[in-house]
Amino acid sequence: MTQKSYFIALEGIDGCGTSTHSHLLKGFLESKGLKVHLTMEPSESDIGRLVRKYLKDKDVPPTTDALLFASDRDLHYKNEIKNKLEEGYIVISDRYLESSIVYQSVQSDKISVDWVKEINKFVGLPDITIILDIDPKIALARKEDEDLEKFEDTNFLDKVRDLYLTRAKQEGYTIISSDDIIEFVQEKIQKIILDKLSKLGYIIS
Ligand code: TYD
Repeated sequence: MTQKSYFIALEGIDGCGTSTHSHLLKGFLESKGLKVHLTMEPSESDIGRLVRKYLKDKDVPPTTDALLFASDRDLHYKNEIKNKLEEGYIVISDRYLESSIVYQSVQSDKISVDWVKEINKFVGLPDITIILDIDPKIALARKEDEDLEKFEDTNFLDKVRDLYLTRAKQEGYTIISSDDIIEFVQEKIQKIILDKLSKLGYIIS
């Protein structure tokens, strides 16, 4: 059978484990013989690099952040994700559109969810968005103080977490608690993805 494409986004507050779980999920799906492309946002393009630099700079206005994340995603989707999906890959993105909707609208009262959706409206949407949920105090305890980026603050991340959970209910996203042993959390993610893939007609042993 020719492999169909499937687009997975892993989301959640800083320190929730999107990177760890994206890598583990890639390895798992490949071990089942599937073609998998792992990617992340901010992306590895020049715009993505600029965004990463600005993550350390508190003087960059939230609107600039929002517009840059949107252009990074536009390029990322059109030059990379779309092509991989057309080639029949399962694409896993470590963060995607939902990060912008949640983080940028929490960053400023002037930024609405609708405006963030509007500036991102030309990109394709994931088939599944999984929110890894964890208390910000636990998530930030895993990080070194001197490495913290501007969003890595407990009060800010409390609001980010609340909005992720509210939107997950509205949009039907999958929520998984990531305050557990990595292997248990990963097993839950794998089960959900295998279930979705088998409904799509994938035959996985
Ligand atoms: P990242 O290196 O992914 O952090 P972590 O590995 O801890 O999840 O950093 C990305 C940061 O950028 C993170 O704080 C979330 C934020 N972000 C946005 O605010 N908007 C976006 O659209 C994206 C993709 C990320």
